[in-house]
Amino acid sequence: MKVILLGAPGAGKGTQAVRLAERYKIPHISTGDIFRSNIKEKTPIGIVAKSYIDKGQLVPDEVTIQIVRERLEKDDCKNGYLLDGFPRTVSQAEALDEFSTVDVVVNIDVPLHKLMRRITGRRVCGKCGESYHIDYLGGKTACEKCDGELIQRADDNEETVGKRLEVYEKQTAPLIEHYEKKGKLFNVDGDGDINAVFNAITERLG
Ligand code: AP5
Ligand code: MG
Ligand code: ZN
Repeated sequence: MKVILLGAPGAGKGTQAVRLAERYKIPHISTGDIFRSNIKEKTPIGIVAKSYIDKGQLVPDEVTIQIVRERLEKDDCKNGYLLDGFPRTVSQAEALDEFSTVDVVVNIDVPLHKLMRRITGRRVCGKCGESYHIDYLGGKTACEKCDGELIQRADDNEETVGKRLEVYEKQTAPLIEHYEKKGKLFNVDGDGDINAVFNAITERLG
């Protein structure tokens, strides 16, 4: 099963992707996570990516497309994959159409005014990447799964989030229509609780 998770920053792509990857035994490929690990390792890609991510802008298409093309060639993607955060521009979608055929595009829909709070309250595990929200952490500072330290992403401040939401509206939201025209779009209400969203997606995916 080849699936794209589409959605604005903070819509819950990562949260659902972790759960879906476990259920369907397919790799979770997040371009955001790939960039963050490159930034941590200070690779050439990381150095380029950081200059864009810190400003809330998209990393240039040619860099991003190349990374995903190479990743999808790996053996573990033969039976499917879950793309989280790619494609994000019409050019990325057109490039993907040339090297792979996705089955379904799940669009996680959350009202834009709710996203700022979701993102600025997010804490992620520095070790395993699990996402939490301060509203539900009850003051805990360690990951429930692996006891790793919970940290705030560098791009999760109000100013950068504002920019990310603007970029989403301009460059990524048009993909909804792109996939609707191809008959691949599945809209899911992302405003319910995490399990309700998960159930709605798995009902569709089978
Ligand atoms: P990326 O890491 O992909 O960030 P993003 O798209 O901005 O999305 P987020 O990770 O912020 O949100 P999410 O939808 O995963 O939400 P989450 O599940 O964590 O990209 C970062 C940057 O990298 C980009 O800005 C860009 O610069 C670059 N980049 C990446 N891909 C690129 C590409 N293809 N091309 C060019 N550049 C690219 O949930 C958010 C919060 O809400 C959490 O606290 C969570 O606990 C909570 N939450 C989740 N679900 C629910 C729910 N149902 N109810 C209540 N709270 C919930
Ligand atoms: Mg994410
Ligand atoms: Zn963890």
